[in-house]
Amino acid sequence: MSTDVNVTLTVNGERVSRRVEARRHLIDFLRLDLGLMGSHTGCEHGICGACTVRLDGAIVRGCLVLAASLEGAQVETIEGVSDTGEIRDLQDAFVARNASQCGYCTPGMLLTAADLLKSNPRPTRELIREHLAGNYCRCTGYHAIVDAVETVAQKRNGKAPP
Ligand code: FES
Ligand code: FES
Repeated sequence: MSTDVNVTLTVNGERVSRRVEARRHLIDFLRLDLGLMGSHTGCEHGICGACTVRLDGAIVRGCLVLAASLEGAQVETIEGVSDTGEIRDLQDAFVARNASQCGYCTPGMLLTAADLLKSNPRPTRELIREHLAGNYCRCTGYHAIVDAVETVAQKRNGKAPP
């Protein structure tokens, strides 16, 4: 017996209707059904943050959300957020500070950093580390990432970065 479900949602501003397996996770729906490969899969158990996307304005783990549960939802991925230019300064700062090496964690990091700066435009370094703690990076040691986010916060607040 088929357990497929019809679902209609908005992804990066475009209405999308698909028939999905009841157990299909959002991250697989985005990558395999819609071809949006910017969000990554790592642990697939909600630990590493590689699959971070926005759901109705809040960041979520794409590997923990079932696509079939998203009728009427608004999903934004790194592709959509990049296209709007919303995180251009964060992307530039990641490049300038060498905060993206292999890049596997970077889409999730950027979305999580953007989420932090939206809720707290003046985070301390400790708060930046705390907010990014659920996004794992194997390459950078995190220092450059925290530098990049701090730089953007300072620039957005009209301060010259160090
Ligand atoms: S792949 Fe989703 S948290 Fe690791
Ligand atoms: S840059 Fe490689 S995992 Fe973060």
